Amino acid sequence: MSSQTRVLHIVLLKTVYLYFKWLAQAFSSCRWLVKPLSRCRRYWVCCGFSFAIMFSIIGTWYLHAFIGCKPPSSLHSNWNVLKEMPIDRRMIHDNGLAQTPPMGWSHWNHFECNINETIIRENVDAMISLGLPALGYQYVNIDDCWADFDRDSEGNLIAHPATFPSGIKALADFVHKSGLKFGLYSDAGYKTCIGNRAASLGHELQDALRFASWGVDHLKYDNCYHDGSPEHVRYAAMGEALNKTGRPILYSICEWGTETPALWAPKYGNSWRTSRDAKDRWKRVKLLADDNNIWAAYAGPGGWNDPDMLQVGNGRMSLAEYRSHFSLWALMKAPLIIGCDLRMLDKRYLEIITNKEIIDVNQDPLGVQGRKVSQQGFCNCLEVWAGPLSGGRIALVLWNRGWMSDVIIVKGHDLGLPLGAVTTIRDLWAHKNLPEKFTGSMQVKVGSHGCKMYLLTVT
Ligand code: GLA
Repeated sequence: MSSQTRVLHIVLLKTVYLYFKWLAQAFSSCRWLVKPLSRCRRYWVCCGFSFAIMFSIIGTWYLHAFIGCKPPSSLHSNWNVLKEMPIDRRMIHDNGLAQTPPMGWSHWNHFECNINETIIRENVDAMISLGLPALGYQYVNIDDCWADFDRDSEGNLIAHPATFPSGIKALADFVHKSGLKFGLYSDAGYKTCIGNRAASLGHELQDALRFASWGVDHLKYDNCYHDGSPEHVRYAAMGEALNKTGRPILYSICEWGTETPALWAPKYGNSWRTSRDAKDRWKRVKLLADDNNIWAAYAGPGGWNDPDMLQVGNGRMSLAEYRSHFSLWALMKAPLIIGCDLRMLDKRYLEIITNKEIIDVNQDPLGVQGRKVSQQGFCNCLEVWAGPLSGGRIALVLWNRGWMSDVIIVKGHDLGLPLGAVTTIRDLWAHKNLPEKFTGSMQVKVGSHGCKMYLLTVT
């Protein structure tokens, strides 16, 4: 029994004890043996109601936990992480880009609309001085708020003159000269999501050609203020326009999972958001991970599920939470787009986003999204996530979503490992091999909100 389960049992027993104590007091004050029964009616009614409520709560709790309703310890017992193939890749739109999940930086999660070209240039310089490009962080993505409120007299999108006075072409040139790639943002509606900037609905080809002429390498395309036509129509229009430019532009579809994009977006784009906006909040990280997990089978080289950009370094989550966030995004083959201010990044956060061994998991050429394979504990908050890597290796994240340290158990059959398989275990946060080998199962204590990330290699 896990320690969280033990604590829950103690709380439960204590509640039952207090309930019966309260009941005894209620009856003794009624003194129903010496008064006529009718005078005690309110106690009987009260007693009946409270009994019903109390036992339906306890009953549901136990039914859920111990009989039938409990999620099986293995969520995908037939799923073999070593064997399952992703969906038919012929369905995938192929502009040759995003063979591994895109990596880069965007201002949105930290600065939102409070940006200008100086902030962007300084972050590009910081990216370089921190050595991020060598780790694979390539794209510098400008999100919302670069565009002016209206188009120019020829109907072209233009940069906001006060915040981007040198224009977008000059900024793209600067980024390219720094050896990086340049990303821009628009929206499949009449205004971008901030509410007052010009967007691309009805101007797809004109805007795509302009983006190409500026040297844009990545387009994030948002979903606000549109005409109500279906996402797969509006997003296809921009996808086709980008193809017509002849410039390879990575197409990042951002419709927040509203029209189950995994089912159609692989035909048009290189990534598609699967849920709401990332926030620098633990609760949101859990929600985004679960939403993104559903569509695991649809991701692969050329097209990825996107649970949104990283919040690591923005300061409102603990180090353990940021490590979990980064480990899961890497395992799920999510785009790794840093979202903090790189000019003043705390060393502890930098260590997280520069963990090369974990980045290597994300960038593994096999390109199969890791997923949740087991949920444990009374709280169901102790989870095993796993995914196959090239060379028959397996990446593993043991994630404790609960409020106290607990033991997480990994079983070989949850990973599809044959009986008798022996693997080495490398701890990707400690950067060392464990002395023991994995021979069918292992138990590891994981701190609250934290995770362990391992690489298993069959010997
Ligand atoms: C939406 C997107 C975010 C961000 C903002 C910009 O909310 O989901 O990622 O681009 O718009 O306004």
